[in-house]
Amino acid sequence: MKCEFIIENIGQLVTCASPGGPKRRSAMQDVGVIEGGAVAIGEGKLLGVGRAQDIAAGFTAAETIDAVGRVVVPGFVDPHTHIVFAGDRLDEFELKIKGANYLDILASGGGIISTVKKTRDASKAELVAQATERLDKMLECGTTTCEIKTGYGLNTETELKMLDVIRQLGESHVMDVVPTFLAAHAVPPEYRANPEAYVVLICEEMLPLAYNCLFGAQDGQPRVTAFADVFCENNAFDLEQSRRVLEAAKRLGFALKAHVDEFTNLGGSRMAIGLGAASIDHLDAISDEEIELLSRSDTVGIVTPTVNFNFGSREFANVRKLIDAGCAIALSTDYNPGSAPCPSQPMAMAIACRYQKLLPSEALNAVTINAAHSIGLGATNGSLEAGKLADLVIADVKDYRSLAYEFGSVQIESVMKRGNWVEV
Ligand code: NIG
Ligand code: FE
Repeated sequence: MKCEFIIENIGQLVTCASPGGPKRRSAMQDVGVIEGGAVAIGEGKLLGVGRAQDIAAGFTAAETIDAVGRVVVPGFVDPHTHIVFAGDRLDEFELKIKGANYLDILASGGGIISTVKKTRDASKAELVAQATERLDKMLECGTTTCEIKTGYGLNTETELKMLDVIRQLGESHVMDVVPTFLAAHAVPPEYRANPEAYVVLICEEMLPLAYNCLFGAQDGQPRVTAFADVFCENNAFDLEQSRRVLEAAKRLGFALKAHVDEFTNLGGSRMAIGLGAASIDHLDAISDEEIELLSRSDTVGIVTPTVNFNFGSREFANVRKLIDAGCAIALSTDYNPGSAPCPSQPMAMAIACRYQKLLPSEALNAVTINAAHSIGLGATNGSLEAGKLADLVIADVKDYRSLAYEFGSVQIESVMKRGNWVEV
């Protein structure tokens, strides 16, 4: 069979292949290493993935690329980011170093709200330009697919502006971008005295307009998956408010995500799993009963160890317990200006291995195939299997475990997205 090119002489070809759904339990420790592998690529897709001799026997290529014994892994998938925002939170960084706490900063009108003010004032073009720089940084760190949330607008106009920025990024950037509507990220200052009215606004005005903005021109036939999300937490949205937002979103046709148990267990995990959420995210304060529910569901648990690291915390979500209980777990950077100014999935892996006791194999599956499933792209992204997208990373290492072992350096040699090398 003819193909456009073959990448050969791959020291370790790490496929993260998983037939069916996301990996769980002992499958998390299997990254599908093919020693001395090769891949055949054509029309942006993987046509063959296997041992060098089998690929050489099965394909004739116009071009052959020598990986000189390096490691090839799937392009990373980052399933939880907030990269559309204006400004920075450098002052808050210093306040936190001096002892201030995240929820107190939020309650006093700082934190998310300070980013909201700057994001409302920014033009679409400014937001696209700044988010493009962040996507480029993520690409340099090996991420080829990501989810991006709204949530720094908190009024109809700016939330829709952010959604349009995310749409534009999906069109202009090589990265595959999945949008999530997060108007329920915080209660905006205008509604502080009446948060209920903001919940009504989200359910009755913002979510329908957002859905229409994403799918209106397509007669209700969604072309891409789009998610709605809520921050279920003290000083944000309580359990019943969160439920109402997610139920309204589900009725419209959104798939669901929820920020739950980041600081406080309000019962959000149980509620979101019950609504069939695609993911529940953070999980620091999840209860044993909810871990059991998660393990028996199709919901993926997304953990964000960069947040705890950024807070200088010694406490992390108990991912060891979650994996051992049979939950499907993905890792994300949560890239945002406040709780995680980090574009790097290898950094998330490095932290997860040290503080959450994941093996490098588990961390790699968590940033690839399981992350892809958590944003509805498990069939096309997140693993190196024939028929899937040719999204891959050549790492300048001899053993894939080095990706989590060494930290603070750039081990990414080259990145391919849909069969094209991208400049990193
Ligand atoms: O996932 N928890 C809520 N949202 C983000 C933080 C966003 C911000 O602080 O700007 C998070 O940690
Ligand atoms: Fe978040």
